[in-house]
Amino acid sequence: MSILVTGGTGYIGSHTVVELLEIGKDIVVVDNFSNSRPEVIENIKKITNKDFKFYEVDILDEEKMNQVFQENEIDAVIHFAGLKAVGESVKKPLEYYYNNITGTLILLKVMRKYNCKKIVFSSSATVYGNPGNPKYVETMGRGVPTNPYGKTKAMIEEILEDTYNADKNMSISILRYFNPIGAHPSGIIGENPQGIPNNLMPYIQKVAIGELKEVSVFGNDYNTKDGTGVRDYIHVQDLAVGHLKALEYLEKKGSGVYIHNLGNGQGYSVLEIINTFEKVNNVKIPYKITDRRPGDLDMFYADPTKAKNELGWENKKSLEDMCRDSWNFMKNN
Ligand code: NAD
Ligand code: WQD
Repeated sequence: MSILVTGGTGYIGSHTVVELLEIGKDIVVVDNFSNSRPEVIENIKKITNKDFKFYEVDILDEEKMNQVFQENEIDAVIHFAGLKAVGESVKKPLEYYYNNITGTLILLKVMRKYNCKKIVFSSSATVYGNPGNPKYVETMGRGVPTNPYGKTKAMIEEILEDTYNADKNMSISILRYFNPIGAHPSGIIGENPQGIPNNLMPYIQKVAIGELKEVSVFGNDYNTKDGTGVRDYIHVQDLAVGHLKALEYLEKKGSGVYIHNLGNGQGYSVLEIINTFEKVNNVKIPYKITDRRPGDLDMFYADPTKAKNELGWENKKSLEDMCRDSWNFMKNN
């Protein structure tokens, strides 16, 4: 029996594949390399000393997805494949809805055909919308995300719930990630986006290496500890382990739809991130304060209690670890 990982050469997917291989799982990865590189496959093998099957397949290609299920006995799917850039999704909504939603529909259709009943889905804190309380807890339910990317996540959650309502043998885990940063401690895999990054940590990494001049801090007049935006940053390796726990939970609980936040439960400000990065890595990160970024919220973080109580999962790594591993990866690459 194998676990299919869609988007398994991407940032979070590759770290999860490493953790799955480390505990001896049989896995099959599909990715179309729209936002990752083939070298990642060799890098995962280098870290783990283990082999796995890879298909360069677009999940929108139903025929090829059928072939993947035909050639392998797939017992569960971890579904990472999707487009994730918030700003780009505003400019290209149709591409985002098509890739993320149609891709998931095709995956679920093929799973149904091959009687595969377990799926873990990469959702996001963005589905809470703007609930008014910065501590996001699963009982709040879904709000209205402000961009097409976020809307695809909320819609896919609903599609998964409807899929369960129509087939009560399905076991579905929805994981809502907060802000993943960091990299594998080996420095061999991590996140290195093409061009000018949108997210804070990749931007800091590029300033640290000298590729970009300074970080623009988007606003220092928020109602937060130091006026800059506050988020719940979580080490990508901790996040990866959360998927193993979610799979175990599906095994234990059987059918149902289970929703969990994966965050550390603490908010860090933009300046705290910059200062910690400078301190642990002994590098200078020049920055300037600019206007707020449209659409940004002042502050939010996870209530991770449900994941702790039900999945037995909690984050282990500190902000220092996240900053050190992000820089270590950047230096190596
Ligand atoms: P990523 O872009 O690094 O990984 C996604 C992978 O999916 C890439 O390797 C890409 O090539 C692949 N892919 C995209 N469309 C595909 C398709 N149609 N067929 C096959 N492969 C396809 O992103 P990530 O940061 O690793 O995110 C993984 C998942 O987690 C995504 O669904 C993302 O929306 C979600 N998520 C990410 C974050 C974050 O901040 N990184 C936060 C919350 C949720
Ligand atoms: C973090 C903080 C910025 C860049 C996004 C998506 C979300 C999820 C994670 C997928 C904010 C500030 C940033 C910069 C800055 N992804 N900032 N200068 O916006 O919390 O979340 O990624 O689901 O859906 O929206 O992450 O890293 O862009 O920003 O000051 O150059 O850093 O204002 O306070 P965000 P981010």
